[in-house]
Amino acid sequence: NDNSIPRDHTLEGGIGLLSEGYEFAMKRRQEFQSNIFQTRMLGQKAICIGGKEGAELFYNEELFQRGGAIPKRIQKSLFGEKGVQTLDGQAHMHRKKLFMSLMSPERLNEIAGLVQQQWEAAALKWQSTDQLVLFDEAQQVMCRAACQWAGVPLQESDVKQVADDLGDMVESFGAVGMRHRRGRQARRRTEQWIGHLIEQIREGKLEAPEQTAAHAMSWHRDTEGNLLDTQTAAVELINIIRPIVAIGRYVVFSAVALHHYPDARHKLVQSLQTDDHTYSQWFVQEVRRFYPFTPILGAQVRKDFTWNDYSFEEGTMVLLDVYGTTHDEDLWQQPDTFRPERFEHWSGSPFDLIPQGGGDHYRNHRCAGEWLTIDVMRVSLEFLTTRITYDVPEQDLTIDLSRMPAIPESRFIMSHVQVQP
Ligand code: HEM
Repeated sequence: NDNSIPRDHTLEGGIGLLSEGYEFAMKRRQEFQSNIFQTRMLGQKAICIGGKEGAELFYNEELFQRGGAIPKRIQKSLFGEKGVQTLDGQAHMHRKKLFMSLMSPERLNEIAGLVQQQWEAAALKWQSTDQLVLFDEAQQVMCRAACQWAGVPLQESDVKQVADDLGDMVESFGAVGMRHRRGRQARRRTEQWIGHLIEQIREGKLEAPEQTAAHAMSWHRDTEGNLLDTQTAAVELINIIRPIVAIGRYVVFSAVALHHYPDARHKLVQSLQTDDHTYSQWFVQEVRRFYPFTPILGAQVRKDFTWNDYSFEEGTMVLLDVYGTTHDEDLWQQPDTFRPERFEHWSGSPFDLIPQGGGDHYRNHRCAGEWLTIDVMRVSLEFLTTRITYDVPEQDLTIDLSRMPAIPESRFIMSHVQVQP
C-alpha cells in the first residue's frame, strides 16, 4: 500500500531539487535506504525512483507516458513544444524513427570527421592567443560541425551568436530568473531562424542534401501523411543541433578528467600510441557516468499499477533519479572514483549507465544522439590528448552540484597551446 513509500517531508521537492541540485534524489534515497520515496513537485504528489530496477520500471511505456509530464517552462526554453520528447505510443515511435534514421554508421563517421576538422582549425588559431576558455571554444566547434552535418547554412559571422543561443537553451534548464529568460529568448530567436530555413527548403529556394537532418525534418510525414507544421519541424531540427553543441560540456568535463586524473591520462596516451581505442571508449563512458549532466527525468503514470507492493495511481508524476543511478553504490564500485577500467567488465545493461536515459533507443525516449555523443566525445578526447599540448593555469575548476546544468566554475582555461606536427 501507498503509505509504505517513505515520504520526504522536509521541503517542497521542487525547491529542494532547485537548491540541492544533482544530489537531491540520491541523498533522500540514501537517507531512506530505499530506491523509492514520495515528495511533492510543483504542488503535486510525486514519486521518485532510482537504481537499475527503478530505471527499468520508468522505461515501461505501458505504465508511463510523457504527455503532460514536461513542465511548460522547460518546453518554452530547453525542448520546444510538440517535439519528440512530448509524444507517446505510435506517434512517438514514428517520430523517433525519423531521428534514428539520421544515426547510421556512415553519418556518425561524417560528424566525427567534421568535428575533428573543426578542432584542428580552432587549434591553429589558439596557437597565437595567450589563453582560451575551452567551454566557449568547444561550443563553437560543435556548432560549426553540427550545422554543417545537419544541412543548416551558417555564416562564420553568426557562429558565436548561434552557439550562444543553442548553449543558452541548455543553460536554462535548472534555472529561474535571468538564466531562464535567456533560454526562452534564445529559443524564440532560433525557432524563427530555423523555421524560416524549413520554409525555404519546402519552397525549393534552398537545397538541403537528402541525408541531412534539415531535409529529413522538412519532408517528414506524420502517421496521417501530413508534413510537420513549420514550428514543429523547426523544434525537431533544433533537437539535433542544440544537443550537439551541448556535447561541448562533456568535452570540458573530459578536459577536467585529463587534468585531475593523470594516471588515466597516461593510460589513455599509451593505448592511443598503439592505435588502440578501447581505453578511449572506457574513458568516454566514465566521463558520461561520473560528471553531472541530466539530474532527473519525469513521466506520468498512465494507469494504476502496483510495483513491489507500492501502488502508483494514474496521473501521478514519477521522477527517475538519473544522476543518483550513475553514482549508485549498488551498481558502481566506489562510484565517486574516476576509473575508466570499470567498463572492462560492464554488462552493457540499458538501465544502469543512463546519463542519456535508459531503455531502448527506438521504443523508449532514450537519447537519440547517444551514439553520436560517444563518437564525438572520443574524437574530441583524442584531439586533446594527441593533437595538442597545453598548460592548465591556476583556476577554479570546482563543479557546483547545486547548479543545474553543472559546469566547472572557470569553464576550463587553457594556455600555451601548441599543435603537434
Ligand atoms: C533525449 C541526454 C546529446 C538528441 C535525451 C534524454 C536525455 C538526453 C537525458 C531524455 C531521455 C528520456 O527522456 O528518457 C543527452 C546528453 C547529451 C545528449 C547528456 C550530451 C550532450 C544528444 C545529441 C542528440 C540528442 C548529440 C542529437 C544529435 C536527443 C533527442 C532526444 C534526446 C532527439 C529525445 C528522444 C525521445 O524523446 O525519444 N537526451 N543527450 N541528444 N536526445 Fe539527447
